[in-house]
Amino acid sequence: MEKAPRAILFLLLIVHFGVATTSKGGEFHVGVILDLGSLVGKVARTSVALAVEDFYSVHPNYSTKLVLHIRDSMGSDVQAASAAIELLENHKVQAIIGPQKSSEAVFISNIGNITQVPTVSFTATSPSLTSDSMPYFVRATLNDSAQVNSIALLIKAYGWREVVPVYDDTDYGRGILPSLVDALQEIDARVPYRSVVPSSATSEIITQELYKLKAMQTRVFIVHMSPTMTSLLFTKAKEVGMMNKGFVWITTDGISNIIDSLNPSVIEAMNGVLGVRYHFPKSNELDNFSIKWNRMYQRDNPDESPFNKLSIVGLWGYDTIRALAQAAEKAGISSATNQQPQSIKNSTCLESMVISTNGPDILTAIVQNKFRGISGDFDLTNRQLKVSVFQIINVVGRGWREIGFWTVNGGLSRQFNQTGMKITEPASLIDLNPVIWPGESTETPRGWEIPTVGKKLRVGVRTSIYQELIKTFKDPVTDATKASGLTVDIFEEAVKRLPFALTYDYEAFDSADPPSTGSYDDFVNQVYLQKYDIAVADTTITYNRSLYVDFTVPYTESGVGMIVPVKESMIKNMWIFLKPLSAGMWFGGIIFFMYTGVVVWFLEYLNGNEHIHGPFSLKQLGITMFFSISEEKEKLERVLSRIVIRVWMFVLLVLTSSYTASFASMLTVHQLSPTVTDVHELQKKGEYVGFHNGSYVGGLLLDIGFDRSKIRAYDTPDDLYGALSKGSKNGGIAALVLEAPYIKHFLAKYNKGYTMVGPIYKSAGFAFALPKNSPLRAEISRAILSITGGDTIIQIEKKWVDHNSHQNDDTIDGSDAITFQSFGGLFLLTGIVTACSLFVAVLMNHYKKYQKNAASRGDNQNECGHEKRGESGDSQGEQRDQNINDIEKQEPLQVSHSLNTNGDKLPDSENNDICCRCTQNNKATSLTHIGSEIIHRGDKSTRSLSGSKLVPS
Ligand SMILES: *[C@@H]1O[C@H](CO)[C@@H](O)[C@H](O)[C@H]1NC(C)=O
Ligand SMILES: *[C@@H]1O[C@H](CO)[C@@H](O)[C@H](O)[C@H]1NC(C)=O
Ligand SMILES: *[C@@H]1O[C@H](CO)[C@@H](O)[C@H](O)[C@H]1NC(C)=O
Ligand SMILES: *[C@@H]1O[C@H](CO)[C@@H](O)[C@H](O)[C@H]1NC(C)=O
Ligand SMILES: *[C@@H]1O[C@H](CO)[C@@H](O)[C@H](O)[C@H]1NC(C)=O
Repeated sequence: MEKAPRAILFLLLIVHFGVATTSKGGEFHVGVILDLGSLVGKVARTSVALAVEDFYSVHPNYSTKLVLHIRDSMGSDVQAASAAIELLENHKVQAIIGPQKSSEAVFISNIGNITQVPTVSFTATSPSLTSDSMPYFVRATLNDSAQVNSIALLIKAYGWREVVPVYDDTDYGRGILPSLVDALQEIDARVPYRSVVPSSATSEIITQELYKLKAMQTRVFIVHMSPTMTSLLFTKAKEVGMMNKGFVWITTDGISNIIDSLNPSVIEAMNGVLGVRYHFPKSNELDNFSIKWNRMYQRDNPDESPFNKLSIVGLWGYDTIRALAQAAEKAGISSATNQQPQSIKNSTCLESMVISTNGPDILTAIVQNKFRGISGDFDLTNRQLKVSVFQIINVVGRGWREIGFWTVNGGLSRQFNQTGMKITEPASLIDLNPVIWPGESTETPRGWEIPTVGKKLRVGVRTSIYQELIKTFKDPVTDATKASGLTVDIFEEAVKRLPFALTYDYEAFDSADPPSTGSYDDFVNQVYLQKYDIAVADTTITYNRSLYVDFTVPYTESGVGMIVPVKESMIKNMWIFLKPLSAGMWFGGIIFFMYTGVVVWFLEYLNGNEHIHGPFSLKQLGITMFFSISEEKEKLERVLSRIVIRVWMFVLLVLTSSYTASFASMLTVHQLSPTVTDVHELQKKGEYVGFHNGSYVGGLLLDIGFDRSKIRAYDTPDDLYGALSKGSKNGGIAALVLEAPYIKHFLAKYNKGYTMVGPIYKSAGFAFALPKNSPLRAEISRAILSITGGDTIIQIEKKWVDHNSHQNDDTIDGSDAITFQSFGGLFLLTGIVTACSLFVAVLMNHYKKYQKNAASRGDNQNECGHEKRGESGDSQGEQRDQNINDIEKQEPLQVSHSLNTNGDKLPDSENNDICCRCTQNNKATSLTHIGSEIIHRGDKSTRSLSGSKLVPS
């Protein structure tokens, strides 16, 4: 292997030396430094040699001719450097092609800078070789940074969040990292680990490293290594089972560009790998060249593996020669090639080197020469090749297939046209052809895995003060930590819903101690300290905690509320009957009661009602009162007073029914109204407020402005309950401030006499805590959302919360008593009716007096005629009024009569006139009633008796 190329090289050198010495002039000496032991070196050597041959056969009239001096760097920087010096000294080369490696390029391009000899490399891709600091270094290839955006976009397209770069510990390997990490950061992907493989790694070291990677959870790897190391890596990866389902491997163009030349066994191991590859257009010229190249390669490397194929490296080499030949022709051969150095004496080798006088011209000619070569557009304007298109490939079977393209402007797409734009808008999120992933899987890998090798998820649990929420205990048989409660049910349900199996062990935070040791902050901190992989408890999401851990979405309702005693029970109050009506209402009602009574009394008085005759006395007042609440038609003789009473009765009816309704609602609703509705009210009054020990509510209360001495922490719900029942004045508290989920549980236990106010503050609710950037978080959050959004949460809550006992956790405003205003309309009605009646009565009274005076002269006979008419038209109001008027006229007479016959049932009237009798009898009966028993009302038998007598049936 070693000897054959050396021999060929020697031969070549002899040949070229011979040419150089024998030809008359126009020779342009070019040094070529390659690692001829490497695949790339071999491919490149054949390409450049063929390129010179081809070029001058097509351009026979060129006055200059490239003369190649090929040197083997043997993969060593020192060897490459000495080769460069030797070329510059002995052959006075005016340009150097190569070196192959980035590390070699640094020194050689520095020499090139001193001697003004352009160095053109089509293989040194490390971005650390910046063209600014090396003015004579031209990169006829892309730097490795050019592809990082395409890789990042690929990772973004498939939704992977964590990526591990695997790279050689060489200039080449390390060079890509800064830009790769930047690109990954831009798409929000994390690099949890970098796998650096020593450049001299043996297969044991690689296997070890692979096992290390396998034990981690990230499953997406970006491989940026030399072809030999890559081959070794994938062969070993296959052996350790890392080329199975779930793994993602992406190779950079360093390996993808020469993938055709890899050993078939390596390609087989690489099945499922994605790669980014420089895209070059197909052409007839390329095909012809390919045939020639293969023939020549076989001739040059007779015992070389037959799999080595022409790659883009060879094409770049070919085009580089073309660019150089054209530049040489343009710039001409330097006349000063043999220019002597300034001082020969005492000079080292380097100092004695000649300076190429036309170096700058050659450099300019190379840089300005744009043409379309077999590798595509060859444009070195920026002293490096322009990025155009990358091809995304998927290694399948014994080869690869194209799954899409990446262009600078268009991003990833299935197809692209020459302008580099996307042809169509992507129909789906991933506008790429389907990929066959490692393990022959067509399912896009998730990109991470819970490491299964002997490692279970450590789930931290902590007993809550509400054991319905979460409680840890030891299994008496296995002595394993167990947990139960609503929180645990939700967690276990969420794990069940994950799209992958997750094994876990509970680890109790409070194992030996009584349940409240250590605050929740400490508990959450265990996740940050990597004691737990997830913390499952009634942990509230807070700003401070979120600085150290990531939370899932909350699984409970959110908010902070207060529990306060309800107002002192109304039922115990002896004056409770007064409460339904406001004081104004009571006062107004009584005033109207009196007013109506007085008016009715007055109406009856004017009417000459026998019972209310005489001066206004206590007895009369009693009658007045009686009038205003009773509607004894018989006792009220005047229609006007009856109207007044009817209206007043209606008002009373409305009033009593409202009173009843208000009273009933007061007895039920009023019990639940809280004593305090605002937390600031407590603060102003200087009341004590309680909260759960270890809860963040303590800090919240201090933030609100509570004095430290005014807040009291309690450990258990029973303590809280005890303190709350004692009250603020007796060493307890006036209110409890709790997170909403606790309130539910507290009220479920002690709902008698307490109610919830709020939520007074917002809080995010309870959630599980995971380490920062844990990929599990999104999965568990999704599972929690599916639980809380559905019926399952209700089932779980039913199991752990006694729903029957906390129906009244709503806050209810105390209903107000009925005010006078609200019944103003009614009172206005009765007031007006009463006043009008009074007015009418007074008016009529005056009229009567006037008539009486007029009639005292005339006879009494015509009265009967009046009565007759009245009887016949009894239904007509007017006539009834007239009747009344008539009756009223007779009043004095009849009163005296009935007074005489007091106690008798039906006193015969002296007046024998039948038409008068009816009325008179009726009147007499009613008057008898009032007279015999003022308060003894409703003597129906008497009335019906008299009625039956009057109207025989
Ligand atoms: C070589 O000949 C071609 C025509 O065959 C001509 O176009 C070209 O300019 C010539 N080049 C030189 C360098 O003389
Ligand atoms: C590498 O290539 C990219 C794309 O052409 C370019 O933007 C970047 O400046 C280059 N980096 C170096 C160090 O030359
Ligand atoms: C390259 O050479 C020029 C002068 O020949 C010098 O000014 C410059 O500093 C050199 N650059 C490097 C990186 O050596
Ligand atoms: C050459 O170098 C030697 C030792 O470095 C020194 O002694 C001698 O003087 C130098 N000669 C010249 C001509 O500079
Ligand atoms: C490439 O696509 C763009 C946008 O779809 C279109 O405007 C342009 O004409 C296309 N170019 C070619 C060469 O097809």
